[in-house]
Amino acid sequence: MGQSEIESKADFDHIRYAQLWEDADVLTAALGDCAGGTLVSICSAGDNALAMLTLDPAKVVVVDLSPAQIACLKLRIGAFQSLTHPEFLELTGSRPSSRRADLLSQALEESDPETRAFWTALSPEVVRFGIGGVGKFERYFRIFRTRLLPFVHSRKTIDDVFVSRPSEARAVFFDTRFDTFRWRLLLNLFFSRLVMGRMGRDKAFFDHVEGSPAQHVARRIRHAGVDTDPSQNPYLHWILKGTHGDALPMAWRPEHFDTIRARLDRLDIRPGSLEAFVSTGEKANGFNLSDIFEYMSPDMFETVYGSILSAAAPNARLVYWNMMAPRRVPARYQSKVETLQTVEDQLKARDTAFFYSDFVVEQVRS
Ligand SMILES: C[S@@+](CC[C@H](N)C(=O)[O-])C[C@H]1O[C@@H](n2cnc3c(N)ncnc32)[C@H](O)[C@@H]1O
Repeated sequence: MGQSEIESKADFDHIRYAQLWEDADVLTAALGDCAGGTLVSICSAGDNALAMLTLDPAKVVVVDLSPAQIACLKLRIGAFQSLTHPEFLELTGSRPSSRRADLLSQALEESDPETRAFWTALSPEVVRFGIGGVGKFERYFRIFRTRLLPFVHSRKTIDDVFVSRPSEARAVFFDTRFDTFRWRLLLNLFFSRLVMGRMGRDKAFFDHVEGSPAQHVARRIRHAGVDTDPSQNPYLHWILKGTHGDALPMAWRPEHFDTIRARLDRLDIRPGSLEAFVSTGEKANGFNLSDIFEYMSPDMFETVYGSILSAAAPNARLVYWNMMAPRRVPARYQSKVETLQTVEDQLKARDTAFFYSDFVVEQVRS
């Protein structure tokens, strides 16, 4: 298979996602027992490929069409190798820092010249926002938080979102303090197709999406505010406050730092498409497919899905999200895979990266 369909449509010259907006806890739980196996992961900002190292695989093959996204992972590798965990969190932007420029230089010391040049040019932005804040997607959230949110909610209300409460109290807080008329108006404006396409996601990504993004986001925010505990949600915290609180994404937590650092040499980074990996003839035991299927037309999805199956070992799991466009095993491959419905239901209920409408776990029949 040649070029990936989206490759010719979107512009990948800059960082689109400076951190990973998919919940690595549910991803790693969905992949099951992968010890000693080969895993394949879409890179994006690299955090979930790093989280997959906690599963003790023999290797994680990391692919991405975007050199800028691959550079995010390469920088993280340098940061894990050369920084302490508290320094790492300062560099990411999870914690305040007055020395990010130095931490960035330290993290880049052993990097290849392209990665160093790429990130050095971004140093002023890293100093302000951290490496997790410099993508197009994060900029979109920043504009939302700094320019629009203050017209809707006071700082006190935002702080109160992250007070831990039992679920009934969360529903009362959400209905009476958070989900106000102004909030709903803001969602409708900001998550219009036009604005989202212009500021966050490439318009090409909406070609196959059905329904209003704002309606979808409103439903999912209720999941993040009521069904799950906001005080444990790093994604919601970053969106509303521009940094992290107590909760961190999996790969950034202190308890995983040494394990990930010790296994960095198991990452096998292959810039390029997933389709290129599947054409090598290698077999993998699990795939983190991010939400890439949503970026494809249904016909292309079917073709790519078939080629992934040809690169999947028996019992391999395919794990992926859908934000708005429905994508699940195509009819012609249904006899080859089993949908792990119970696993999906349990994990969907826990998923703190709340934007997605669906989370899919499919296992290749042995
Ligand atoms: C699908 S996007 C979604 C990002 C995600 N929701 C997040 O939170 O980071 C993730 C990455 O997939 C890459 N990508 C999309 N289609 C791909 C393909 N066919 N092969 C390899 N990478 C692909 C993009 O370059 C992007 O960096």
